[in-house]
Amino acid sequence: MTKSELKALALSLPKAELHLHIEGSLEPELMFTLAKRNGIRLSYASVEEIRQAYQFQNLQEFLDLYYQGMSVLQTEQDFYDLTWAYLQRIHQEGVVHTEIFFDPQGHLERGISLETQIQGIHKALVNGRSELGISFKLIMSFLRHLSEQSAFETLALAMPWLSVIDGVGLDSSEVGHPPEKFTRVFAKCRELGLRVTAHAGEEGPPEYVWQALDLLKVQRIDHGNRALEDSALVAWLVEEQIPLTMCPLSNLKLCVIKDVADHPILRSLEMGLLVTVNSDDPAYFGGYMMDNFNALIDALPLTEDHVRQLAKNSFVGSWLSAETDHSKPNPK
Ligand code: HPA
Ligand code: ZN
Repeated sequence: MTKSELKALALSLPKAELHLHIEGSLEPELMFTLAKRNGIRLSYASVEEIRQAYQFQNLQEFLDLYYQGMSVLQTEQDFYDLTWAYLQRIHQEGVVHTEIFFDPQGHLERGISLETQIQGIHKALVNGRSELGISFKLIMSFLRHLSEQSAFETLALAMPWLSVIDGVGLDSSEVGHPPEKFTRVFAKCRELGLRVTAHAGEEGPPEYVWQALDLLKVQRIDHGNRALEDSALVAWLVEEQIPLTMCPLSNLKLCVIKDVADHPILRSLEMGLLVTVNSDDPAYFGGYMMDNFNALIDALPLTEDHVRQLAKNSFVGSWLSAETDHSKPNPK
């Protein structure tokens, strides 16, 4: 198959997105609209100026702008509009299931209640399910640069919302904030029946991936690129078929890789790892699901089988139950 045939195939296959921060889908145009609606002054004069500011040397440089950008989200309607815009976009790309993160602490510390956040996001997700046919899971992510106590306080606030929260994650500044810091809060989450995942091995060492598995007992790893530095860890991830939710354009923008041609996803596939393609923070990193697939197809010698495997892995690695398994061929 030619590269353009592979891209058409990738577009046509049903796909699930498993690593997406909803606040990272805030496009500069919507940021401006919401700033105006809420009477917030942005430090940028135009949409172009925002886009030009999105040059990052590392994760922290991105996070600084990401937390600043989300300050325009004030009302339930703002969270709804943000989520609805993302769903409409992925609907055009063949994404039929999405498991999205939100960062409650990033809003609570600005005085925005959990109710405002969850109601807005969840109403849009429910609407997306009925109008666009996109199924979903909602993942509450703890900010790892904050304390264990803050994570416990957030979990306490979330108790009335457990029926709409499917799982918890761990994100933000990785190095210096190892998974072990959150061992007790993740144990509590598991006791409550929540599913668990964590960012690990994006900038942090393979040891952080081990900790996420052994101490947090996660069901998948977000990113996980640096797991490939540890052959015993790779063997374990292959054996257990632990999903790794990789994000090629994110890795490029945050200088985790120098070139998409260096991305470990193809090597990972060939080693039998359960890797998936995701967009992470599409408004900041240059694209949604298909931009990520297309970049991989352009830069790496992917075959038809690889593309099919990646689409299939996205459902295998998801938290969908068997009844709604979109990876099964559609009986026509
Ligand atoms: N890594 C860590 N934290 C994040 C990210 C990421 O890629 N995106 C949003 N928060
Ligand atoms: Zn992420």
